[in-house]
Amino acid sequence: MLYSTETCQHSSSESLLKKTLVVLPGSILATYLLGTTLPWPITLLHAVWLQGLIAALASYYLLHMPVWWTAIHLLFFPALLSATLVLNLPAYWYLAGFITLLLVFGRIHRTRVPLFLSSGEAVDALARLLPQDCQFKLIDLGSGCGGLVCKLARMLPHGSYHGIETAVLPCWISKLRALLSKQDCQFKWESIWQHDLSGYDVVYAYLSPVPMPRLWEKARREMRLGSLFISNTFTVPGIKPDRCIRLDDFSSTVLYIWRIA
Ligand SMILES: C[S@@+](CC[C@H](N)C(=O)[O-])C[C@H]1O[C@@H](n2cnc3c(N)ncnc32)[C@H](O)[C@@H]1O
Repeated sequence: MLYSTETCQHSSSESLLKKTLVVLPGSILATYLLGTTLPWPITLLHAVWLQGLIAALASYYLLHMPVWWTAIHLLFFPALLSATLVLNLPAYWYLAGFITLLLVFGRIHRTRVPLFLSSGEAVDALARLLPQDCQFKLIDLGSGCGGLVCKLARMLPHGSYHGIETAVLPCWISKLRALLSKQDCQFKWESIWQHDLSGYDVVYAYLSPVPMPRLWEKARREMRLGSLFISNTFTVPGIKPDRCIRLDDFSSTVLYIWRIA
């Protein structure tokens, strides 16, 4: 058995995100204050290493983040600066990079939901929760590159699978995958907030803490009685799930499950 049911709690991924949002601005501010109070001037290179060091120490000793986060905090800005200085790229490369990020991540500044993918263990656990011998309709809200939906469609071909996604490139990739898979899966370039959830037996979401309260209100309003609302990693503040499944995967994912009553 790959997973076990246990007491519901916020997942480690959620708290890592919050801690990172503290470490980054905190370390930049600390570097600025140190830089302006030190009796000797510091160069930009010194400043980025100082910021990296402060961020790494704070993440490890104060916030007890995993050690690989310490390495990321230490190296992020120095690597960025070195790449800028050493590669000496023409300006249009930065524009191309920006457009690529826009195509991959969409309007992340508004949605506050980045692209990261459900683990194989999450797909397997989800497959075990779905009806094994009768038809059902599932939607993945924010379906990324369509991996979860296409894998489930291969595993349980008696289901009908849908995905909606607002980021352009992942949505194109999903549509291509659906075309090649020849399974009953469809993807739409559409926002979660425009899509009606009343036709689904299972609604799956792997988003971020930000949209969860609004999404719960939408699910309660639109989903049929008895249907399942499943959130990977991010719970709904103040609403106890009917079941939690902790997975034995890379980020100790928790699936939070509510049956609409
Ligand atoms: C964490 S990824 C999850 C990908 C996929 N569901 C999976 O589990 O592998 C979240 C996705 O939701 C998309 N997204 C965020 N807000 C959205 C919205 N309002 N409407 C549609 N998609 C959205 C993001 O662009 C991103 O690709």
